[in-house]
Amino acid sequence: MSLQSFKQLTNNKADKNLHYLDIYDRLFSEFSFPSILEIGVWQGESLRLWAEYLPTAKVVGIDNNFCTHLHPRVKFYQGNQSDVSFLEDVAKKEGPFDIVIDDASHRSGATLVSLRTIFPYVKKYYVIEDWACYTECSSIFDNNYQPQKNSEYLLDLAKNIMEELAIWRGSARKFGSSKFEKIEIYENLLVITKR
Ligand SMILES: C[S@@+](CC[C@H](N)C(=O)[O-])C[C@H]1O[C@@H](n2cnc3c(N)ncnc32)[C@H](O)[C@@H]1O
Repeated sequence: MSLQSFKQLTNNKADKNLHYLDIYDRLFSEFSFPSILEIGVWQGESLRLWAEYLPTAKVVGIDNNFCTHLHPRVKFYQGNQSDVSFLEDVAKKEGPFDIVIDDASHRSGATLVSLRTIFPYVKKYYVIEDWACYTECSSIFDNNYQPQKNSEYLLDLAKNIMEELAIWRGSARKFGSSKFEKIEIYENLLVITKR
């Protein structure tokens, strides 16, 4: 059964666009015993979805707010996604992870801190959800407030990864030496594959 159908059948309220679920189905299908970390869990529904759809999975969640509705097979840690020592503690204790999903603040600075800190503990996929969402900032109370797309950082990130993948004759690095295999950019969702 597809993840989309399973979510509907189990009346799961995880905040996921439908095409995200098809992408997750493809990623999950590679693993018999996936280890998943999700940053940003809100009411715990996405963690419940992973735990119920993937009965052999290890599921870990992080959120800066306490989550009260936790599936019994889920481990939860309360903390901020831009707190490097907190992330390292969780990753050392629970990692490495086959798949990491960042669905937390959707703010570029915090998103990049999590990516940099957790990436060494990722075995295969690092997913960033909702990269095109609008920035929330205190200036929303300003009369001149203009919502801005939060996707600039994604261009920088993609450029950095492309530079890392730019290996040509005479390059100091050899083919196969990059830590990235590829980057896939979907509507509002990014998948980085680690080599
Ligand atoms: C979009 S909701 C998560 C939805 C959930 N993944 C789902 O699919 O149902 C975003 C969550 O990120 C958390 N969050 C926001 N900023 C955060 C931060 N800096 N560190 C950790 N969690 C954060 C919020 O408390 C909220 O629960």
